[in-house]
Amino acid sequence: MSETPHLSGPFRIGDRVQLTGPKGRLHTVTLREGGELHTHNGVLPHAGIVGQPDGSVVVNSAGHEYLALRPLLRDFVMSMPRGAAIVYPKDAAQILAQADVFPGAVVVEAGVGSGALALWLLRAIGPAGRLVSFERREEFAEVARANVETFLGEQPATWDLRVGDLVEALPEAVTPGSVDRVVLDMLAPWECIDVVADALTPGGVVLCYVATATQLSRVAEYLRGTGLFTEPEASETMVRGWHVEGLAVRPDHRMVAHTGFLITARRLAPGAVPPDVRKRALKKPSYADEDVEIWTPGAVGDREITDKNLRKRIREAQRAAEGVRQAAGQGDAEPTP
Ligand SMILES: C[S@@+](CC[C@H](N)C(=O)[O-])C[C@H]1O[C@@H](n2cnc3c(N)ncnc32)[C@H](O)[C@@H]1O
Repeated sequence: MSETPHLSGPFRIGDRVQLTGPKGRLHTVTLREGGELHTHNGVLPHAGIVGQPDGSVVVNSAGHEYLALRPLLRDFVMSMPRGAAIVYPKDAAQILAQADVFPGAVVVEAGVGSGALALWLLRAIGPAGRLVSFERREEFAEVARANVETFLGEQPATWDLRVGDLVEALPEAVTPGSVDRVVLDMLAPWECIDVVADALTPGGVVLCYVATATQLSRVAEYLRGTGLFTEPEASETMVRGWHVEGLAVRPDHRMVAHTGFLITARRLAPGAVPPDVRKRALKKPSYADEDVEIWTPGAVGDREITDKNLRKRIREAQRAAEGVRQAAGQGDAEPTP
């Protein structure tokens, strides 16, 4: 019987373990019967890790010590193979809070990219929720599928991954008015707002994650122009690490200064016109096609992944998922805690 990785308790077959070895070098392994970690510093049998508590120090054949810890979700998403740029943990945390993603929620996400945000959403909706993720590029969907399987040990029953453009695929995938939350991480979210408005339940939340101020402006004006949403709220999240050692207590010298902006709005009930909106003339913003061109990934400084590199990332992601599958096939039949 296969076994999904355990998130706490002593290490068991099928679990992923992050090993910090000599000189702080990191290795991540999936525990298998008879498995071994070979490095130029010696051999570490997986059997020496199985049964140890999370956070143990284990010793390899040459006497080198390794700190063994289960990777947290934030560790996993930062190191997993990427097809497209991922949502960073600092933004994922804010997305869950600002979009109010709750256990049991029906959530729509697009595009799924490398699957980083999908993993956070799946965790937040829990076993009673449903996440429908859309991705228009089949190759990116493959990377996401493999990454989710690697971290969770299986394709969760709560996840429905669909290949296609959200504008065409969403109306076929969900009943109008049935979706609690929609999260859009894509270049042109305004193109999807009309179908999102149809899919959302009254009071439901749409959240867009965009990289540039021009995208932020355009999506805000589009949301306003529909007259179907509350006044949009925008923010960005800066997390500055601190160095805390003895009397040297100060902010880190380096930080990730910019990733993206979040903008949220709530779906109004059919026919509802909030008092402040009534006063404002509703008009769609005028943007020409050439305006959109300046927001292409290249133009906004995002490097497009080459086909060759993307094929490599798919292979890496699938190899990792295969490792988990093999390890799970060898696992004992204890239930997941
Ligand atoms: C930045 S990536 C998403 C990353 C993802 N949120 C993550 O955390 O790994 C943007 C993705 O949106 C996809 N995309 C863009 N427009 C789309 C649309 N209209 N429908 C479906 N997918 C779309 C792109 O192909 C790309 O993979």
